[in-house]
Amino acid sequence: MKKINALKACCLLALLGLFSQPLMAADIAAGKAKAAACAGCHGATGISVSEEFPNLAGQKAAYLEKQLKAFKSGTRSNATMKAMTAALNNQDIANLAAYFSSLSHKPVSRQTKAIAGDHASPGEFPENVFVSIKKGKGVVRFPDATFWAGGPNMLYEAITPDQKRLLVTSPSTDQLYVFDTQSGKQQAIIKVGKAPKGVKVSPDGREAYVSNQGSNEISVIDLSSLKNIATIKTPPGPHNARFTADGKTAYVTLQGGAGLGVIDTRKRQVVKVIPLPGITGPHNLDLSKDEKTAFVRDFVHHVAVVDLLSGKVKKVITVGNGHGGIDVIPNGHYAATAAIGDDYVSLIDTHNLKLSNIKVGNGPHGIRASADSHWLYVTVTKDNVVAVIDLHSLKLVKKIRVGDFPFWVAVAGNP
Ligand code: HEC
Repeated sequence: MKKINALKACCLLALLGLFSQPLMAADIAAGKAKAAACAGCHGATGISVSEEFPNLAGQKAAYLEKQLKAFKSGTRSNATMKAMTAALNNQDIANLAAYFSSLSHKPVSRQTKAIAGDHASPGEFPENVFVSIKKGKGVVRFPDATFWAGGPNMLYEAITPDQKRLLVTSPSTDQLYVFDTQSGKQQAIIKVGKAPKGVKVSPDGREAYVSNQGSNEISVIDLSSLKNIATIKTPPGPHNARFTADGKTAYVTLQGGAGLGVIDTRKRQVVKVIPLPGITGPHNLDLSKDEKTAFVRDFVHHVAVVDLLSGKVKKVITVGNGHGGIDVIPNGHYAATAAIGDDYVSLIDTHNLKLSNIKVGNGPHGIRASADSHWLYVTVTKDNVVAVIDLHSLKLVKKIRVGDFPFWVAVAGNP
């Protein structure tokens, strides 16, 4: 009898011994896929986005595994990490640990070229600013740098005029995500047309226009019912729209090449197309303060300055390479445009159409000024930072690290 018990105990101990070793072969690729959810805080490469989050890159796998299990069980107490680990099983944890452990702990130099203070401070963010993180699958809200998980390819964004909702397109799933701007909760995920790109909200806050580049139509979203209620057919490749302040007209860039579509919002119809000779693939646009001029950014390296009354292109200005966003800053002084194939943004003086270029890092795309026209925010897609430019001194003052592939910037008060 005793012998058998001893045997059992021995087997048990052996088994326990086995279990205390990491049992499963860790899968780094699977860990990498799961790690998208961690990027908002710990950084896309395991080098964290700010002081309050630890770096994970190059840490010992066994230590990471132990910490993750401790957060999950509550023996190490942290509310954020408890939530982050709740849905992870032991295999996920082993994979994540292996992935982060495999990364270099030496930050990539171009990502960390620190300039004075790399952290968001409220002074530079007079209102909330939202940055979509395309590959990191979410949104970061500034100045508090809170990350909200969203869906795949979080792309263009818009804020409702009451600032209560943030809308984000997901072109790979043909959906529009609706977030509560305070809690970050997803209120709805709405099916739209194919390959939705830009989203804009009517000035009365009732409707959103989603430009579906893949199905040549705009989806009209009713913002009280959060339903897709109508479709506006367009010439090929609608990319992004811009409402006039009275909400009666919306202009849409037709990247297929036709030019700038003019929509009568009451009829829900494209009533005119303004051709844009001299530019290639109208991509994004904004209007001058008096709404008489459109600044249309193309897919290549041009901005067309369009007189909306005569429908004539007044001038074509050469800017940085590749596509990008464009923003006429709220005081009307500059049309600022980014260039994803370059390392600078261009400010076009709206009075004399002269250019000033400001270096921001590799792959600038999204660009928007604060409502008081003091600050310009630029998403720098390859460096994974948001660059902040002081529009009084025209100097780059900050690069704030965010998740993988920051794409667009939405600023309350600057549609
Ligand atoms: C919303 C921000 C946030 C997200 C997202 C997040 N973490 Fe964390 N993580 C934290 C904070 C804050 C800490 C520090 C906790 C503490 O003080 O104990 C932490 C700590 C950790 C630690 C302990 C590091 C150490 O040196 O002890 C690990 C490991 C970790 N996180 C892994 C992950 C993984 C894996 C994910 C994705 C599944 C993730 N975290 C997502 C905020 C976050």
